[in-house]
Amino acid sequence: MGNSKVVIVGGCGHVGLPQGIVLASKGRHDVSLLDVDSAKVEAINSGRMPFLEAGAPALLQKVIGTRLNATLDAGCLRQAEVVITVIGTPVDAHLNPTVNDLYRTVDKLCTQMLPGSLLILRSTVYPGVTKLVHDRIQARGSDIQVAFCPERITEGNAIEELTKLPQIIAAFHPQALSRARQLFLSITPTIIELEPLEAELAKLFTNSWRYLNFAISNQFYMLAESYGLDFYRIHDAVTREYPRMRSFARAGFAAGPCLLKDTLQLSAFASNNFFLGHAAMLINEGLPNFLVSQLRVHDLRNRTVAILGMAFKAESDDRRDSLSYKLKKLLEVEAGEVLCADPYVSDPSLVPVEEAIRRADILILGVPHTAYRNLPIPSGKLAVDVWGVWPADQSWRKQPEEKVSAARL
Ligand SMILES: NC(=O)c1ccc[n+]([C@@H]2O[C@H](COP(=O)([O-])OP(=O)(O)OC[C@H]3O[C@@H](n4cnc5c(N)ncnc54)[C@H](O)[C@@H]3O)[C@@H](O)[C@H]2O)c1
Repeated sequence: MGNSKVVIVGGCGHVGLPQGIVLASKGRHDVSLLDVDSAKVEAINSGRMPFLEAGAPALLQKVIGTRLNATLDAGCLRQAEVVITVIGTPVDAHLNPTVNDLYRTVDKLCTQMLPGSLLILRSTVYPGVTKLVHDRIQARGSDIQVAFCPERITEGNAIEELTKLPQIIAAFHPQALSRARQLFLSITPTIIELEPLEAELAKLFTNSWRYLNFAISNQFYMLAESYGLDFYRIHDAVTREYPRMRSFARAGFAAGPCLLKDTLQLSAFASNNFFLGHAAMLINEGLPNFLVSQLRVHDLRNRTVAILGMAFKAESDDRRDSLSYKLKKLLEVEAGEVLCADPYVSDPSLVPVEEAIRRADILILGVPHTAYRNLPIPSGKLAVDVWGVWPADQSWRKQPEEKVSAARL
């Protein structure tokens, strides 16, 4: 497929923008990023990334204004052979999957897209949604074809992963499948074909599997720590030169806009009988509560606590569904004062890390940004590190006066 015209709906977001950059630079397609966020459109058109993504700034500069442009104008749809939609698919206030935004978007797209063009659903969707969208389009008498090609990158590594990870594709019509295959072959070597329902489940299994794995580690962490034991001494012992434990993750906040949401989608699909998923949610979402309960013996009411790292994961500026913010909320009820720092997140309530360290009695590593890994922690401060990156001799365990109460932190 040489030099197709592609529109990405939701193209200025965390999935859409790297996708557009890679399709334009490596795939050599002409790509329009259609979005409703004028600030992001403006930033991208002037060559600035609106969020952190490794390798993206240089590539964006190369293609913006030539093969790539961002726009608020849906008129670009009238020239596109392929339209990829990557708008968010959140769960609602009752934690149930929703399709209303997607339906509204698809209905509108159908009135603007070229006859016979290809619509690729790339957001993570509730199983069966590809079929519903396909049937909905057919019921309108439209010959727009539908494919489901889930995105499996991790934020921050998208540019590299988009050209390396196998791409799962699915469609009801062989021609739609063939067009999707050609598009993705222009950027990545391996294509895997599945039926649409299989592909929808494949994406949800991927995210839920990661979420369950983090829950195992977090459960073991809480178990060890509640007995005053250093989880990472045990983790190191069981993973060192022992291949069967290679996938034993480190503990830490399992957060962000995808893992919990997609576990909830799978749970809804399992008629709420996804017991492992529900257990994982209680464990992962309960980790901040565990930390606060362990800290209660330290006279929280009269202590200043600092959380270092507010993004949902390391080296990211994305604070969506970050558990550091949940921890902040919990601590604000119980602690004297709560200070928060992050080198990447834009939030006017944050303070410089030096100030946080100087003023706080208790330091909690919210996210293991590289910049926070080797911080000098003054003696006399309590340091809490779920991630196991601060040297043990700087942590609360080595504070002799705290050792007695170790069983409670
Ligand atoms: N973030 C990830 O790492 C990741 C990875 C794989 C899959 N996904 C899935 O991809 C989807 C998008 O996630 P994201 O992180 O890119 O979200 P995002 O919020 O970063 O991006 C969504 C973009 O869509 C735009 N938008 C919203 N409504 C629109 C509309 N009607 N028309 C045009 N643009 C519109 C928003 O302004 C935003 O720029 C979700 O379903 C998510 O589950 C995300």
